[in-house]
Amino acid sequence: DNQHQESTESSKPVHPDWEIPRSSLKLGKILGKGQFGEVRMGELRKRGVTETVAVKTLKASAEERDKEDLIGELDILVTVGRHDNIISLVGACTVGGPLTLVVEYAANGCLKDWLRNNRPKELNKTDDKDIATSGILLPMEQLITFGLDIANGMTHLAAMQCVHRDLAARNVLLGKDLTAKISDFGLSRDIYEESEYVKTTKSQLPIRWIAYESLFYHVYTTQSDVWSFGILLWEIMTMGKQPYGRMTGKELMKLLPGGYRLEKPALCPQDVYEVMKTCWETLPENRPTFPELKATLDRIIQDHR
Ligand code: ADE
Repeated sequence: DNQHQESTESSKPVHPDWEIPRSSLKLGKILGKGQFGEVRMGELRKRGVTETVAVKTLKASAEERDKEDLIGELDILVTVGRHDNIISLVGACTVGGPLTLVVEYAANGCLKDWLRNNRPKELNKTDDKDIATSGILLPMEQLITFGLDIANGMTHLAAMQCVHRDLAARNVLLGKDLTAKISDFGLSRDIYEESEYVKTTKSQLPIRWIAYESLFYHVYTTQSDVWSFGILLWEIMTMGKQPYGRMTGKELMKLLPGGYRLEKPALCPQDVYEVMKTCWETLPENRPTFPELKATLDRIIQDHR
């Protein structure tokens, strides 16, 4: 994708319909920091009305690659359109200063933090094998609903020919009623013409979430997002544990071909574990699709009521 090679200092907005005047944006406290830049809370004034938003900007030291990723994220959000389970684009400032992406503010922050903050204290101290018999209760319906929300958003994303490539609890945000919203499309790709994305150059991708064929053959499809979705379900059922614990990425890559996979979390219902396991089938075509995951999780929620 070479259509955005020109500097962002150029005078043409990237998506004129979405361009926001910098003067209408007031920046507030920092919500998150990355190596590329930061996300701040913000206030946007539009026709006399003020809206709380989240504002993503690049550091002055950001590399061309980071800039392209942020423009790419803007492109994806424009293409994908509105969906309750995908963070909405509000607009962007692409001329006359640093590249700035403005998105919907998610009042309950990131899913990973929510899981860790709402984790029963006993879960940290108790030995893993004792947890199952400990009587500790998790907000199970809420947890499975997070999974259902994400499967809903991913169904829409997949229908729009978009592969996310970085689906993980850290990249899911929670709205004011705890609606899960998929976010961080910086690594996402439009696969309209090829149906798969073959990554040619190596870069730091999060190994623990990456599908078998992506790790070994650099092929990314919606079905590799399904693998990551399975890991994300595991994160949810452990209230935010690190997948594969202290194992290194190198060790993991040695074990996956022999069929090694994550174990059932102590408090995870068997039917939910069966779902995540199918997401980790070696062959992408043997994994469920997102619409199938939606239907299955919907049924599981009904069964658990
Ligand atoms: N942290 C990162 N992005 C956010 C957003 N859109 N809303 C709330 N917190 C965030």
